[in-house]
Amino acid sequence: MSSEQQVEIRAVTEGEQLEWLRCSRRTFLYPKTVTAEHVEHRRPTWEGQRLTGAFDGDRVVGTYRSWEWSLPVPGGAGHSVLTDHISTVTVAPTHRRRGILTRMITADLSAARERGVPLAYLVAGEAPIYGRYGFGAAVAGQTLTVRVPASLAHVPTGTEGIRVELVDDADLRAEAPVLFAAVAAARPGAVLRTERFWDEALGLAPGPGDDATAARPALIARDASGAAVGVARYRAQESWQAMRHDTTLEVHDVFAATPAAQAALWQHLLSMDIVDRLRITERPLDDPLPELLADRRDALAGEGSDHLWARLLDVPAALEARGWLGPAGSCVLEVHDALGIAGGRWRLDVADGLATVTTTTADADVTCDVGALSAAYLGETSLVALAAAGRVRGDAAAVGRLSAQLAWQPTSWPTIGHF
Ligand SMILES: CC(C)(COP(=O)(O)OP(=O)(O)OC[C@H]1O[C@@H](n2cnc3c(N)ncnc32)[C@H](O)[C@@H]1OP(=O)(O)O)[C@@H](O)C(=O)NCCC(=O)NCCS
Repeated sequence: MSSEQQVEIRAVTEGEQLEWLRCSRRTFLYPKTVTAEHVEHRRPTWEGQRLTGAFDGDRVVGTYRSWEWSLPVPGGAGHSVLTDHISTVTVAPTHRRRGILTRMITADLSAARERGVPLAYLVAGEAPIYGRYGFGAAVAGQTLTVRVPASLAHVPTGTEGIRVELVDDADLRAEAPVLFAAVAAARPGAVLRTERFWDEALGLAPGPGDDATAARPALIARDASGAAVGVARYRAQESWQAMRHDTTLEVHDVFAATPAAQAALWQHLLSMDIVDRLRITERPLDDPLPELLADRRDALAGEGSDHLWARLLDVPAALEARGWLGPAGSCVLEVHDALGIAGGRWRLDVADGLATVTTTTADADVTCDVGALSAAYLGETSLVALAAAGRVRGDAAAVGRLSAQLAWQPTSWPTIGHF
């Protein structure tokens, strides 16, 4: 038996969860000791999720976690697909490069396809890992740093009617989850949030070692009727040098129901006293913030990167589930999948904002690997750009039309999120 076959891949029992968590945190170089308390804290999150381990004898040498969860796709609120979310992917440094990840991920993707799940989704720790398994970089994120004070040159109609209140994180528990769900539903690729996420994020379920006394300021924007229409959450990194402040506000969550509510939140944050800069994380690439500023160079984009990677498992189901903005038209699309999960040739008819996908033997107009189509599926990555990189083949007019059809213009800009 080869050494990699001696490693068994299987579901983790409750009694093995501590070693499983230890393996993942050690591999991610987590700087603290993992205890049974950490497992207890994670257990509500793991409820209903699949925890897989790679076992060398009774030692855990690999971890993998996946679960089904809805993902917003192009088409506006109401368009979503059940998606295999994947996280906690590690293989111990002692066992790397023996095919253990390949065994864990191919089994999971095939099983998800068997269950009828059309898409898989993950945050890639390193860009070269997941392309070989058919994933494509679908949703980018960026960090914006804005010098404060900065003035807004433009504000959308209605901004003056929004009132901004300063509260603590925990005060958001009733209103923020409902508001976020509505805002994120209209943002393809936004990571939806569970009740448990909110309890942890708002400090209501502190984990071992968490500082329960840390200040957790937040803003809530209300319209004239008093309804919550926007939220921002931040932490101050305060510093003083020779009696002068040098303070960064880490804005780690912003979402709003309307452009006016969003602008009102920025207006407040950009004019705060004793703040020198905002550092705003996980922003979509099309964030309108720089367009609001009197000097758009006050907002510096940095640390931009591919963020979330998608993987089509069922091409017809996924394409028919999303909405289509672009021109009506038809093409024959051939998709290759080295893992044998999602390949095929289909006729794609786009009309009236919907697609119909039917199997065909006609010659293909556009051919690509599943990773390229997966990258373009959520409407952000250009198929034309993928063709320019040699990842999509076909007549330029057919590729151009399909690219325009796949593209999407989001109308909400929540924090993209991660998991
Ligand atoms: C990334 C990781 C899970 C890979 O596990 P593994 O069991 O070593 O992967 P495999 O042996 O199945 O590798 C399969 C292929 O992917 C390649 N590969 C794996 N990790 C890679 C990486 N980080 N960069 C480039 N290529 C990588 C391997 O070289 C191998 O290529 P080959 O088939 O051409 O030989 C593991 O190295 C790890 O835990 N790293 C640290 C934590 C981490 O980054 N996790 C992922 C977070 S999203």
